[in-house]
Amino acid sequence: MIKIKKLLSKKDKSKIVCLTAYSKNVASILDNHCDIILVGDSLGSVLYNFKSTRNVSLDMMIEHSKSVRMGVKKSLMIVDMPHNTYRNKSVALKNAKKIILKTKCDAVKLEGGGKVINIIEHLIKNKIQVQGHLGLLPQSQKGKFKVKGKKISEQLRILNDAKLLEKAGVFSIVLECIKTPLAKKITNELKILTIGIGASSYCDGQVLVTDDLIGLNQINARFVKKYSNITKHINSAIIKYKNEVKEKKFPQKKHSY
Ligand code: KIV
Repeated sequence: MIKIKKLLSKKDKSKIVCLTAYSKNVASILDNHCDIILVGDSLGSVLYNFKSTRNVSLDMMIEHSKSVRMGVKKSLMIVDMPHNTYRNKSVALKNAKKIILKTKCDAVKLEGGGKVINIIEHLIKNKIQVQGHLGLLPQSQKGKFKVKGKKISEQLRILNDAKLLEKAGVFSIVLECIKTPLAKKITNELKILTIGIGASSYCDGQVLVTDDLIGLNQINARFVKKYSNITKHINSAIIKYKNEVKEKKFPQKKHSY
């Protein structure tokens, strides 16, 4: 709770930095730089080639999160509740408690607004910290991913959902792929933190999938900026290793017993 209070005090003062991690080694690098580390169910498509995050299981999230926990010392750690693990209040509470117990994360994230509000209220009443997720909802999205908030009716629904989530007690909402004016309006009208992905610089913070920004996962989406091409670096190290093995230059005496 202290970490969350501290994060909330950054609203309108400094931007919140959030990234995804699926393993200890990546998490321990991110931990020096991020406010929030999210174990996102995007791991389904990024690591397992699933067509949809709907195929990610609770056990997969828990195992990856246990690894991430070992690398996170100071950031707030949030774990996505996968599809079908919060279909009603009691199932959601049982699964959220399991995630927290097994992974020692600080909060869980659920996708949706009005449709899941009674579930989110129930978790918060039971002292579980919750981050919301509005706009493009990968767990419910069928077909091509589209920007949300183009139509007035959609804008009003998303704004209303954001207010419902705030009232229910979430400390933050991820806004995914929504139009800039809507992201700005939501951010201005809420006291809690908005974290954007494809949702403009007006959000209180930003999140990206780490594998996308370092160029490990090949994705061409407008909202992803590639800050590195780690695949190239891995390739050149592996080629050097391969050549040295073939040429009997590795291992040397100093690598042997
Ligand atoms: O699953 C995920 O990684 C996410 C972020 C992209 C927000 O939900």
